[in-house]
Amino acid sequence: MKKRQLGPCITFFPQPMTLISSVSAAGDKDLMAASWVSVVSKTPPTLSVSLQHQRQTYANILATGTFTVNVMPVHLVEQADYCGLVSGRQADKATIAGLHLLPAKHGGAPLLADAPLNVECRLSGEMAIGEYRLLLGEILEIHVAAAAFGADDSIDAAAIDPLVYLGGLRQYWSLGRKVAPAYQAGRRLLPQ
Ligand SMILES: Cc1cc2nc3c(=O)[nH]c(=O)nc-3n(C[C@H](O)[C@H](O)[C@H](O)COP(=O)(O)O)c2cc1C
Repeated sequence: MKKRQLGPCITFFPQPMTLISSVSAAGDKDLMAASWVSVVSKTPPTLSVSLQHQRQTYANILATGTFTVNVMPVHLVEQADYCGLVSGRQADKATIAGLHLLPAKHGGAPLLADAPLNVECRLSGEMAIGEYRLLLGEILEIHVAAAAFGADDSIDAAAIDPLVYLGGLRQYWSLGRKVAPAYQAGRRLLPQ
């Protein structure tokens, strides 16, 4: 396969499109678009988010030690994008976007009621990378829309309908079709 080199940059990594909900020490709630989000450990269940250090969300997380990662569905693309255009210092983004916040099970940062999947986290680590702060969040609870469960109690990805962000291209996509079962598709190549 012939390749072109792009040099050291960030481009075309498919990423989840999430809104991080947080609350300041004074009780002001915020929502921020974040795509640099990833699961990093199963035990303890932990995810990472990378935030530019001037984000209001970063200040809120440092102040309260909590945040919630809300996976955004395709039909809320405009609201999700809006929360990446404006800082909570300038606007009450949830109210303007018509989004609804609920108290979380463990307190602190609220849940976004409109998102089909909410991941409640407690700040458990931090690392500086240039202007960014890689934050680790121990997962305290996951809330999934009841309607997303099929008859066999497994989660139907199509019901979650997550937005996918293509960094570098600055485009939102939806999931395509299911291709194959994981941890099984490659078994044909194992020694018999
Ligand atoms: C698609 C998209 C993804 C984004 N991902 C991140 C991210 O992962 N980390 C980050 O620091 N900013 C990210 N941003 C920018 C913030 O969402 C934006 O600066 C926001 O206004 C910060 O809000 P706050 O000051 O209320 O926290 C993203 C923006 C968009 C549109």
